[in-house]
Amino acid sequence: QIDIGVNDTAWRFDCYPERGVVVTRELCEARNCCFIPASSPSSSATRPSGRNGIPWCFYPQDFPSYSLVSINDTSLGQKGTLVREVKTYYPADILTLEVEIRHETDTRLRVRITDPSNSRFEVPISVPTATKKAESPVYTIEFSKQPFGLIVKRSSTGAVLLNTTVAPLFYADQFLQLSTSLQSQFIYGLGEHRSTFLHDVHWNTLTMWARDVPPMTNLYGAHPFYLAMEDGGNAHGFFLLNSNAMDVILQPAPALTWRTIGGILDFYVFLGPDPASVIEQYVEVIGYPAMPIYWALGYHLCRWGYHTSNSTWEVVKSLRNYRIPQDVQWNDIDYMDQFLDFTFDSTKFGTLPDLVKDLHAHDQRYVMILDPGISSVQPDGSYWPYDEGLRRDVFIKDAEGKTLIGKVWPGLTAYPDFSDDVTHEWWHENLQRFHEKVPFDGLWIDMNEPSNFLDGSTNGCPSSSLENPPYTPGILGGLLRAKTVCATAQQKQSIHYNMHSLYGLMEAKASARIVAKRPFVISRSTFPSQGMYSGHWLGDNRSQWKDMYTSIAGILTFNLLGIPLVGADICGFSEEPQEELCVRWTQLGAFYPFTRNHNAIDMKPQDPTAFSPLARTAMKQALLLRYSLYPVLYTLFHHAHVHGHTVARPIMFEFPKDVKTYGIDKQFLWGKSLLVTPVLDPGVDYVDGYFPEGLWYDYYTVRHTPTTSGDSLHSKGEDLRLHAPLDKINLHLREGSITPTQAPNLTLWVSSGQPLHLVSALSDDGSASGDLFWDDGESIDTYENNLYSYIIFNVTQVLTIIYCSKYHLFLVVSLYTGSNILSAFSSDLISTYS
Ligand code: NOJ
Repeated sequence: QIDIGVNDTAWRFDCYPERGVVVTRELCEARNCCFIPASSPSSSATRPSGRNGIPWCFYPQDFPSYSLVSINDTSLGQKGTLVREVKTYYPADILTLEVEIRHETDTRLRVRITDPSNSRFEVPISVPTATKKAESPVYTIEFSKQPFGLIVKRSSTGAVLLNTTVAPLFYADQFLQLSTSLQSQFIYGLGEHRSTFLHDVHWNTLTMWARDVPPMTNLYGAHPFYLAMEDGGNAHGFFLLNSNAMDVILQPAPALTWRTIGGILDFYVFLGPDPASVIEQYVEVIGYPAMPIYWALGYHLCRWGYHTSNSTWEVVKSLRNYRIPQDVQWNDIDYMDQFLDFTFDSTKFGTLPDLVKDLHAHDQRYVMILDPGISSVQPDGSYWPYDEGLRRDVFIKDAEGKTLIGKVWPGLTAYPDFSDDVTHEWWHENLQRFHEKVPFDGLWIDMNEPSNFLDGSTNGCPSSSLENPPYTPGILGGLLRAKTVCATAQQKQSIHYNMHSLYGLMEAKASARIVAKRPFVISRSTFPSQGMYSGHWLGDNRSQWKDMYTSIAGILTFNLLGIPLVGADICGFSEEPQEELCVRWTQLGAFYPFTRNHNAIDMKPQDPTAFSPLARTAMKQALLLRYSLYPVLYTLFHHAHVHGHTVARPIMFEFPKDVKTYGIDKQFLWGKSLLVTPVLDPGVDYVDGYFPEGLWYDYYTVRHTPTTSGDSLHSKGEDLRLHAPLDKINLHLREGSITPTQAPNLTLWVSSGQPLHLVSALSDDGSASGDLFWDDGESIDTYENNLYSYIIFNVTQVLTIIYCSKYHLFLVVSLYTGSNILSAFSSDLISTYS
């Protein structure tokens, strides 16, 4: 057990977390807690979500908790009974609990703490069912009986990964709390928040409850998962399978507290042992991300405020004119008739069907926005989505069972209940009917927290412990119903109180039902499993350098969360970017897994053609660079889909023993070997970057001057200053890698027919390897149905290509060493090697 000195403020666990209360000694002692003022400010009337400071009111070590009164072996592990003798200060304590330990795999442990007398809400996502106990687990479990606690250790090192004895366990109907010590201060994940990639553990409260708010604290999605580092480069993960509103408190001990207001305590520990395998193990539980349709990886252009289909079309033509690659054109809510879903404005957007036809004729695609709110005030019989929705009973109900009415862009709206299959059918039919008019290719699902311009509904919300729980996490606005529907609202699977943060996931599932081809859906609100149905963009950022920087942390975090298809609005959503910022952002954005430039209404255009020839050319180059790297990007998505790998990858994933990489969020990798070092500051022509130990090749020198020497650098694990004029984003290849590239063209469809070029960055001993996944780019389940090519390239003394293909590929191969090109040759694989 960890020795917690009362004097060590880092180990104080907050006994009075309520906001809006000035915590006095009297109030604190009424909870039988210790009150010792600390130097930094604590509980105050205005305690915000975020950094709170050292608690003044904290649990004494003998604060009553549960005791483990019995424990028995089961086929999967153990089952025990927990009993609490003394009630807590929250209503409806559940005094007897069941704890079940499941040794699901050698690297995955699951613990469920439930109420044996009453069933409680459980998150309706499907997770693997273990049938037999892991044979050689790499973990051990110890129990503390009185007070109950669980200690999980890594067998090989003895590292304590979880120790819940550090604070009392709470399990009241609306207040469930579990604390644990952490192995280190290096903790990641826990979305969705705007923060650095590495979380700050200095009294940092992260609230989870899907919320429509410009990126700041608790945001659009909820992801109760963290990755934590241990000494020596090992890593483990923790996932709390719970969708209720919650706070996660990080404190410098280091320790972490989960505080949720419903559901059950059902959690997983993943043993890795390296960061990448932790994510693989997590993704195995929540579901593998879908393989994106090929054009999802192209350049997407969007804005709010195109005003007409013709002005949208003009921009598309202008990009074509300048030969700037573009795969997808989008429209925001402007295209709709009075902001009504499944309609288009026949005057301003009268040529929309022709625009879409023209896009298709140029191998380009069209995506438009849909919001979940369905207008409830159109004349009877005039608006099929609402009339039919009412008839089929698809809308969320208020506590009295009447259709709940909120307000979004079209005015008063009802909200589809995506927890009901009937709603999926109705949504799908709406999509089909609209598709007949406008043959769109993908969907952008916005406002799906769900967002409401009112708090609750037109009638407010009833007074109830669901609306005003004994404890409310640090939600912006202070109420569960703030800018969403009532917590008491009724959905088919449960009350909105439990279902709220699942709305975006369920809408994405309903939206991803397109037959024959892979669906393309981008969702604002997300929950674990989302990657199976959609990608994500990081929401309403600003055109500021800081926002460009924080986008990297957002993108890396979502790659940890099993949603690799993620990007931020390039050049910023609100405000207007300076040209320099937009160029730098387009260079960085060319390395977002999902690359979209999007802009708010009334802002000046910020597509590449809106800028000077110099800026435009730099942006075009960045996009062509992305297109030339499409083969490697596509292959990385294949590995995400099949193995749960990250696509945009934190450097620490490849160098977990190098502590200097732990805080890096200004650089990142694509896969294991392509290092991206973007410029994130104005007015500079250089950039500082960290190069982990090894040999790194400048991508441009090896790519563009293959007959001369390749520029390489040997790093001992150093910070280096790199030249970065406005038209350059620094890219480096890690030794030992083979990167498949391709001559770029204006769309990925055209690019994909170009010869491949393998760029081999040999390590000092002259070896390198790489791979390529290739298929038709759009059929569903090509991997699962064996309709693909997978090629492994290996250089030792000779280049070996292990080749299994349904596709004709043309290869150009160049091999580089630290200083010289070894050889270059071209080969038609079908004729030579098949
Ligand atoms: C909010 C979204 O976050 C933003 O991207 C979009 O432009 C507006 N809604 C208007 O639809």
